[in-house]
Amino acid sequence: MQKDSILNIILVGIGLCTICGAVISTVAVSLKDQQEQNVIFDQQSKIIDAARLLEFYPSSIEALESIKEVIVDLNDGQPSDYPSDQYDLDTILRDSSQHKVLNGADDIAMISVRENISKVFIEYRNNEFKTLILPVRGYGLWGTLYGYLALDSDLNTIVGLEFYKHKETPGLGAEVDNPNWKKLWNGKKVYDENGLVQIEVIKGFSNPGSEEYSYEVDGLSGATITSKGVSNLLAFWLGDEGFGPFINNLKNKEIKLSDV
Ligand SMILES: Cc1cc2nc3c(=O)[nH]c(=O)nc-3n(C[C@H](O)[C@H](O)[C@H](O)COP(=O)(O)O)c2cc1C
Repeated sequence: MQKDSILNIILVGIGLCTICGAVISTVAVSLKDQQEQNVIFDQQSKIIDAARLLEFYPSSIEALESIKEVIVDLNDGQPSDYPSDQYDLDTILRDSSQHKVLNGADDIAMISVRENISKVFIEYRNNEFKTLILPVRGYGLWGTLYGYLALDSDLNTIVGLEFYKHKETPGLGAEVDNPNWKKLWNGKKVYDENGLVQIEVIKGFSNPGSEEYSYEVDGLSGATITSKGVSNLLAFWLGDEGFGPFINNLKNKEIKLSDV
């Protein structure tokens, strides 16, 4: 066969495509575990950051060792004996027997479905409960923001809020990742004296002299929709359909942390 014949060109083309395809598939498959591991590491680092654990532990290893994973039944706010190492949110969200479909006014975070069980993280410092870290998510402008909210042991004061995945615009909604904005959350209160969720990202700047100051975080400039999304997702996950029952059970000592 002649080297520059049409048939030869086609055969060489097909051969090259097959080899390249095989190489790319092999690399993709062999890196899959590594990619999944990286996602887990990233989430762990956000948990550590939300709870500001590196201010108290020499390294991430010690910080992670201080954390216990607890599976919570969101319907009654009680700990579940579901094995924490088998928990997979994606599977739960696909399985209608393991989640609740949210409608209209119930779906303020615009997540459509809410898992029946959730994995939360509890940090014990010097053997005492110190921080509760809750997974939160909700729709911004372009997609769902996924993150962690860390509450101090009074179950009302925010330690930090970190997002590990979102599709918001750099310079606008993606300013949720700006360290200066994230600092504003530390010390803010979530519930008022009647137990109602009050924490909110407002439009503009919160006035330090106002009564609402402890419940307000400055809005993201030019990103009111993302800001509102963050307020909504916090209202949802701190409310009755989210972790509200669990938090109340902890506050009322109906769950002893030593039992979970
Ligand atoms: C290309 C583009 C990207 C945008 N990205 C965001 C975003 O990530 N989050 C957001 O809230 N608003 C975003 N906006 C702006 C919104 O459309 C809307 O104008 C804004 O949320 C209103 O906020 P403001 O009242 O603070 O100006 C974007 C606008 C454009 C044109």
